[in-house]
Amino acid sequence: MCGIVGALVNEGSVVSDLIEGLRLLEYRGYDSAGVALMDARGITIRRRAGRIERLEAALAENEASSARAGIGHTRWATHGVPSDTNAHPHTDTEGRIALVHNGIIENYAELKAELVASGVKFQSETDTEVLAHLIGRELSRGNDLLQAVLASLSRVRGYYAIAAITKTPEGPRLVCARQGPPLAVAVTKDGAYLASDVLALIKHTRDVTFLEDGDVADLHIGRADVWRTDGTSVVRVPKRVEWDPEEAAKGTFPHYMLKEIHEQPDVLAHTAFDKIKEEKGDIDFGVPGFSDSDLRGIERIAVVACGTALHAGYIARYMFEGLARLPVDIDYASEFRYRDPVIARNTLAIAISQSGETADTLAALRKAKELGARTAAICNVEGSTLVREADATILTRAGPEIGVASTKAFTAQVAAAYMLAVRLARARGVLTPEAGRELVLELRLLRPRMEQMLGERIVSEVREVAEKNQHQKGFLFLGRGINYPVALEGALKLKEISYVHAEGYPAGEMKHGPIALIEPSMSIVALNSTGLVHEKVRSNIEQVRARGGRVISIGSDRESWAISDEHVEVPESSEWLSPILNVIPLQLLAYHMASLKGCDIDKPRNLAKSVTVE
Ligand code: F6R
Repeated sequence: MCGIVGALVNEGSVVSDLIEGLRLLEYRGYDSAGVALMDARGITIRRRAGRIERLEAALAENEASSARAGIGHTRWATHGVPSDTNAHPHTDTEGRIALVHNGIIENYAELKAELVASGVKFQSETDTEVLAHLIGRELSRGNDLLQAVLASLSRVRGYYAIAAITKTPEGPRLVCARQGPPLAVAVTKDGAYLASDVLALIKHTRDVTFLEDGDVADLHIGRADVWRTDGTSVVRVPKRVEWDPEEAAKGTFPHYMLKEIHEQPDVLAHTAFDKIKEEKGDIDFGVPGFSDSDLRGIERIAVVACGTALHAGYIARYMFEGLARLPVDIDYASEFRYRDPVIARNTLAIAISQSGETADTLAALRKAKELGARTAAICNVEGSTLVREADATILTRAGPEIGVASTKAFTAQVAAAYMLAVRLARARGVLTPEAGRELVLELRLLRPRMEQMLGERIVSEVREVAEKNQHQKGFLFLGRGINYPVALEGALKLKEISYVHAEGYPAGEMKHGPIALIEPSMSIVALNSTGLVHEKVRSNIEQVRARGGRVISIGSDRESWAISDEHVEVPESSEWLSPILNVIPLQLLAYHMASLKGCDIDKPRNLAKSVTVE
């Protein structure tokens, strides 16, 4: 995902500092990079699609080498293809400001229409440029940069971390703001700095101020004044950052996996929020292949995927059947490719993959195509083979997933499947706009609930569960209905990174075999959220207890907590989306078990992040 840096110095130049900062943010993944440099002459912008080396080459020798202020950006494209023109920074018509942005401006279309009507000409396809023009317009009304940013942000709906510079008679001005994506600032007696990740700040000082959502920081040499978006001032105390640069690449987290688990609320916002059309009770993917006419003729769905992505596919099956009333076949890609599958007329084959490079998934997609299916991909990597080969793609916007155990890609895949189910249902006329509206609104309500799941209380509850169960011989994960695949995913996560034997089972199937395994050294993780089958799962919990098994219940069903040895509370949500909340404690449980056992969490033995061989 995008990375932002900014610097203001007393003497010398900011050029090398900005480039170095951008390099430190490379791990986030990017497709273009740019800087805006301010010297006595004004602002110079250089931006290039591709690697940072291309940007460096574009910065001709000595160009703006005396720049005392600047901002920089690595872009992970959301609105508009990766190109020199879409790369950040962006500017207003008069070139008075330069702006970098990480996030999504959800109402950019309506703001753009308003600006175009007032005569503004846009240079790029990005949502960011809207904000650059808004800030420019406020400056021309006589506001200073801080006032202009505050006034402009009051018009914007969405998630952002931004930094803007402008030239004033007193010198350069640098302002930044956060609503969603991370942003930190740091000051020394000779400078002031900002970055998406402290990694790019700790070379200057280890005393770093982490901005909170709704903060706007006005940076001066040796001082950062922080304001709230309503214009009131606020004091943010810097925190001492103790880690070394190697660790800092993971932000404040000890492992990529933990960082990625914590990114999930933002990933949901990036994947879904700009596609939600509340007024229509529908989803607009903004890409070809998902219009009414594209989808109306679909009579059957075939899902293929591997591992965690397959578990997202199992959840998708409940959604495609239950919401869009379509029959669904689903299979391991590695099985599908060597079967002689029957593809019915008007089948849409959907391949789900984080990397878009998994050999079996690609082969299964090709086979479905050969057999006459139309194809679609749910994928996290733009430009991957899967995306190139599928007839249509829904991109999950999880950003680069570095931890080998997939976490944030999974929840993004489930969100994407839910959106596709709603779109299919609306296209097929089996869902009214009113019912569609309720469903799409549930997605928005999910973000704060995910944040709650990642708050200190629940995280430490899960850590305690891991501590109490670390010496157990085995784990059986049980779930029913749409949470049955979550049981599969919980077991997979635990196996992968803590090397503990775990099985996922449909809770109703337990009595047909696995019940023989139940004894005190076996922990049963029962997923039970209020919904269609919670009473059934409760009975399954009783069956385990009657045989001396240790029960950890996870979900919103309070009565299950009362009959379990331990429980983790999950907030109520729509049953369709409960898997996204219920999987979070399972990811954390696997993480803490692996940590207690001293396993190499981000690089578990024998596993590769992207399985490009059979
Ligand atoms: C599990 C995991 C793997 C992948 C599987 C598919 O944590 O990471 O099971 O989900 O290898 O990979 P993608 O999604 O890249 O096709």
